[in-house]
Amino acid sequence: MISKLNTIWTIGLCALIGIATVTVICVASETPESLAHSLSSWVSNLDKMERITNVPHRMDDSTAMYCKPTYNINPHEGVGEAAYCHVYVSLEGIEAMKSGQGKYPQGTVIVKSKLESETSGDAILYTVMRKMKKAYDADHEDWEYSILDGPSKRVLARGKLDSCIACHQAYATTDYVTRAYIK
Ligand code: HEC
Repeated sequence: MISKLNTIWTIGLCALIGIATVTVICVASETPESLAHSLSSWVSNLDKMERITNVPHRMDDSTAMYCKPTYNINPHEGVGEAAYCHVYVSLEGIEAMKSGQGKYPQGTVIVKSKLESETSGDAILYTVMRKMKKAYDADHEDWEYSILDGPSKRVLARGKLDSCIACHQAYATTDYVTRAYIK
């Protein structure tokens, strides 16, 4: 009796593992390669992306204040202080970024690295936009927004972040991307 029960359990367990494996494989294979990479691995490997800014871009005062989480990550950061950033785009998005025409392909990743100062390359914070699968956020062109800590590269917030969308939707004609650093 006990061994019969054991057999039933074993068969059940194998079936479950099988279903789980198939599910994982299906989900993974539907995801474009660039979406499968974690956000942390993107900001850790900026050399694999195209840097759009030749020199650090002086951020808008409004963005220096708002293009970051609502809580203050850097307590030394004063309002109105100049802030600088570099902007990087993954390979599939280079054309749309440079031309300002058309939509960014699914899988595009854009990273804005907020620098410690104009002369230091170290990032205090990263803000990232990723073009997700169709219907991720159909009303706002399917971008996912996220914020990562500079030194630890930890994800602090991600998703359809209302505060980001509120400002970026003013740039709907260039698919929510400001291109403010392109002269
Ligand atoms: C007050 C308006 C405003 C808000 C809010 C805002 N941004 Fe931005 N964002 C900008 C501007 C302006 C730029 C151009 C660079 C600069 O001056 O900082 C920009 C640039 C970017 C870029 C580079 C791509 C581009 O659009 O040019 C990314 C990525 C980005 N923001 C992500 C975010 C994320 C994530 C959030 C939410 C945490 C956010 N932004 C909130 C205004 C805003």
